[in-house]
Amino acid sequence: MEPIERASEDELRSLQLERLKWSLRHTYQNVATYRRKCELTGINPQDLKSLEDLRHFPFTTKEDLRTSYPFGMFAVPRDEVVRIHASSGTTGKPTVVGYTARDIDTWANLVARSIRAAGGRPGDMVHIAYGYGLFTGGLGAHYGAERLGCVVVPMSGGQTAKQVQLICDFEPDIIMVTPSYMLAIAEEFARQGLDPAACSLRIGILGAEPWTEAMRAEIERRMGLEAADIYGLSEVMGPGVASECSETRDGPVIWEDHFYPEIVDPKSGHVLDDGIEGELVFTSLTKEALPIIRYRTRDLTRLLPPTARSMRRMARVTGRSDDMLIIRGVNVFPSQIEELLLTLQGLTPNYVLEVTRESHLDTLTVNVECVEHLGGDAAARERLGQQLQYNIKERIGVTARIAVASPGSLERSIGKAKRVIDKRQIRL
Ligand code: DLL
Repeated sequence: MEPIERASEDELRSLQLERLKWSLRHTYQNVATYRRKCELTGINPQDLKSLEDLRHFPFTTKEDLRTSYPFGMFAVPRDEVVRIHASSGTTGKPTVVGYTARDIDTWANLVARSIRAAGGRPGDMVHIAYGYGLFTGGLGAHYGAERLGCVVVPMSGGQTAKQVQLICDFEPDIIMVTPSYMLAIAEEFARQGLDPAACSLRIGILGAEPWTEAMRAEIERRMGLEAADIYGLSEVMGPGVASECSETRDGPVIWEDHFYPEIVDPKSGHVLDDGIEGELVFTSLTKEALPIIRYRTRDLTRLLPPTARSMRRMARVTGRSDDMLIIRGVNVFPSQIEELLLTLQGLTPNYVLEVTRESHLDTLTVNVECVEHLGGDAAARERLGQQLQYNIKERIGVTARIAVASPGSLERSIGKAKRVIDKRQIRL
């Protein structure tokens, strides 16, 4: 463990304050968009005397990055940037992020720390099935695994049959992949007549999309491994902003020596106390190329007290505020439905929610696959559908239509799963 992972709270807070002062100054001096926001609020970096003072500074949003596309928020000259990544985004231009050589170094160290926290050790073989390319998952995991001294298999996403072949032949210890694609790989093992639980994998380091405790149990059962939750976002760095420790498995530890977290009320923007759910906001403390102050992640979660490390943890992300569906006035997150459908034996974690508008009323349809042996049993499928409908009404308060689909009929993701098809939106 690095000394800071065991530091006292005082040591950690004083390091954070010192770094925060640097980061604010660096941003203010070099990022015109952010400086203008500060000027409008009448605040400047000298006004920050304590960590609590950060709440008086303006937020940064995805919109700020979009309007300064592609490099407008970079704080260093172009020739100091050694890498560009970008988030795909569903519409319009991607969000572009950049790294100096030192940023890449910090990132590699933090992913190495994350892999070690999950139980990985030098010499372990790491199969990386996060996509390589502009997405931060593949290369982020890759540099971290190399930094820890692991043997890296840079498989990337896709070619599911080949994923299985390489896992069987190379016998890796660790897999880094999205939870939904982990399940697709598990299914491919079964399709080939192989038992995924018998493979060499010991640890899964899974993230990049919301997933539930029920999903973790399902993955661990099917794959016979221990699954750790890794969190991150490109605007703040990529994978490894926070990651779970194998000793406690109680939510990702935020690597607070590099990222300062706050939770705010998504509507008012007011800072909330630890333990209360709201929107996660991050301030980078050491990033050079793209320092980011009070970035609104849109992810809903809570800050939890330290356990295995000296730093605070985050609760599992309930969902993104943009993913929240409002069905006839009731707020629904895909993760709530996921939790419920996995309590019913006979249903699988392969699901997609469809929202339509019929005579001005919103209708939610849950399409979920049943297990293989119920594929031909119409009566059992009907019963499962009714039970799920009842549970959703009881627990979430919304009436949903349930379509129990045959095994293998819903599309599989090779990266982040698309859980919602909103047919109410008219896309131009
Ligand atoms: O998904 C970075 C990453 C790659 C994280 C690999 C972990 C593993 P983006 O594409 O910018 O970056 O998407 C970031 O994904 O704001 C969350 O909504 C979601 N997300 C990421 N990790 C988790 C997680 C990468 N462990 C967005 N649990 C974030 C829930 C997650 N949601």
